Amino acid sequence: MRMDKFKFALILLLGVCGLSCSGKRSGAVPNPQVFGRLDNGETIYLYTLANRTGMTAQIINYGAIMVSLKVPDGAGNFQDVILGFDDLEGYVNDQSYQGAVVGRFGNRIAGGKIHLDGKDYQLSVNDGNNHLHGGFTGFFKAVWDAQQESPNTLRLTLVSPAGEEGYPGNVHMTVTYCVTEDNSLKIEYRGTTDEPTILNPTSHGYFNLTGSPQNSILEHHLIIDADYITPVNSTLIPTGELLHVQGTPFDFRKPRPIGEAINADHEQLRFGSGYDHNWVLNNHTGAVRKVAELYDPDSGRLMEVLTDQPGLQFYSGNFLDGSLVGKKGQKYGFRTALCLEAQHFPDSPNKPNFPSVILRPGEEYGQTTIYRFSVK
Ligand code: BGC
Repeated sequence: MRMDKFKFALILLLGVCGLSCSGKRSGAVPNPQVFGRLDNGETIYLYTLANRTGMTAQIINYGAIMVSLKVPDGAGNFQDVILGFDDLEGYVNDQSYQGAVVGRFGNRIAGGKIHLDGKDYQLSVNDGNNHLHGGFTGFFKAVWDAQQESPNTLRLTLVSPAGEEGYPGNVHMTVTYCVTEDNSLKIEYRGTTDEPTILNPTSHGYFNLTGSPQNSILEHHLIIDADYITPVNSTLIPTGELLHVQGTPFDFRKPRPIGEAINADHEQLRFGSGYDHNWVLNNHTGAVRKVAELYDPDSGRLMEVLTDQPGLQFYSGNFLDGSLVGKKGQKYGFRTALCLEAQHFPDSPNKPNFPSVILRPGEEYGQTTIYRFSVK
């Protein structure tokens, strides 16, 4: 009996430590490597985070971009499960937000217009008539200050000045990446402002769990714990309504191959050219909970997504068309990767019925999102 209690306590403790970046690994911190130089001569560095069993994440201080994420398959082979580029130039020229922290506002804002405390602001318009992912030179094109705090933890900070891309307030951002002993990549975001503003950053990793972007992601099985999506208009701006997923191609409450209904005759799939929607996650209380699961039956790799956010954008790589050439000269074809972006709902600033994204002086923005890997 005593033994059982002891075991239970130990399992609980390991579980909690596994989820915490405060459980930093001791040991020598590797020196960052030079990744490249920007046109202005500034040097960009590559940081490698590793846990004791060999999972690694590599991050650069340009865009806080995750450039590789190596996790084992069922046979113990480590492979990179995200798309990206071999060099800095690839990321500088990239328009698809590969691996980046996007913001200030991840996702779309109609017309780039926000109204805050009686004032109107015009954000830059970089996606048709809308604002997307923070504009032309958001967090994803900024040079962050970076410090590797331990073999498995990297802390990046950035000051986004008032007026940048049209947003009010000087925003101080911190993003911490951590590779934990339970094979999780944990991303923590913190932000403060000196004027009322909006903030909704997210991570834009393009996942392919087969380890090869030559394979499509249509055979990956997906679960999303959500009863509703926020349906969109033809420019991918939410209408403000909620659509129940029951009986639709958007029902991922039980595991379902992504390709099963992606080509169904459904207006929402036509608007998105596939899946490119925000799921209204169940059980949003502000605590971190499991919200999604992605499984590749071939490699056995399983990725669980845990977050404290109310929404999850599932984008099935519909705009990848083979024209983007990435790592090892590979062409990134249609639906060869997918994004699962934990976030607030798109166009929240203009939708009073959606959870608020307003940040005021004296408050602190916080987000924790975890991508946890195992094999099945
Ligand atoms: C959006 C897509 C967009 C892509 C950009 C995703 O987060 O949902 O609509 O095309 O980012 O690469």
